Amino acid sequence: MFKAVLFDLDGVITDTAEYHYQAWRTLAEELGIEGVNRTFNEQLKGISRDDSLRKILSLANRENDFSAAEFSALTQRKNDNYLQKIQKVSPADVYPGILELLQELKDNGIKISLASASKNGPILLERMALTSYFDFIANPEEVAASKPAPDIFQAAAAGVGVSTDEAIGIEDAQAGISAIKAAGSLPVGVGRKEELGSDIAAVSRTDFLTLAYLTEIWEKNKI
Ligand code: BG6
Ligand code: MG
Repeated sequence: MFKAVLFDLDGVITDTAEYHYQAWRTLAEELGIEGVNRTFNEQLKGISRDDSLRKILSLANRENDFSAAEFSALTQRKNDNYLQKIQKVSPADVYPGILELLQELKDNGIKISLASASKNGPILLERMALTSYFDFIANPEEVAASKPAPDIFQAAAAGVGVSTDEAIGIEDAQAGISAIKAAGSLPVGVGRKEELGSDIAAVSRTDFLTLAYLTEIWEKNKI
């Protein structure tokens, strides 16, 4: 049986993936960069703030147009816009079934750990009144490499004293699924297999994420 569930946040626990997208699209429009649409956004999901901006600038071959200070001001501008958007996030914004899943995991002694790339993760958990469910929150500022590297999932597992191969990781992003695989945990996707890969278990809705479902997937994969 698995001993921990390592959760991504944006797009798994709540709909903040949409706010990240809107904030990046606004910044791209202000810079006159075209192509930040929903298809392109699949590549932005899960990756760090700096990597996201680098990818957006590369759409217009403008990666080298900005000094370090200008680059940092742009990421700050995006984050200020994003922070405005998440101001009203509340417990009502937790995706369906997530609270029930957290409670089931807690009741069954399965560790709960956050493996989000977002520096805003702790604020969001607070706003949704979920902090007390989490045994550990991995700090994205303390890991050497961001998703798709395995580091944040390794840190999330280590933080709850569980080996990565005894953990399930839940993700809505391609980069995140790659990170879970690289960490040696079992990936479960939230979203479409077309985007996340046909080789993994995926749910189209978070209320399908029950302890019974995760147990079934775990047992199938460990045979
Ligand atoms: C991930 C999101 O969870 O966090 C990305 O999927 C985002 O879209 C990344 O860029 C970093 O988040 P933040 O809040 O620190 O800018
Ligand atoms: Mg995500």
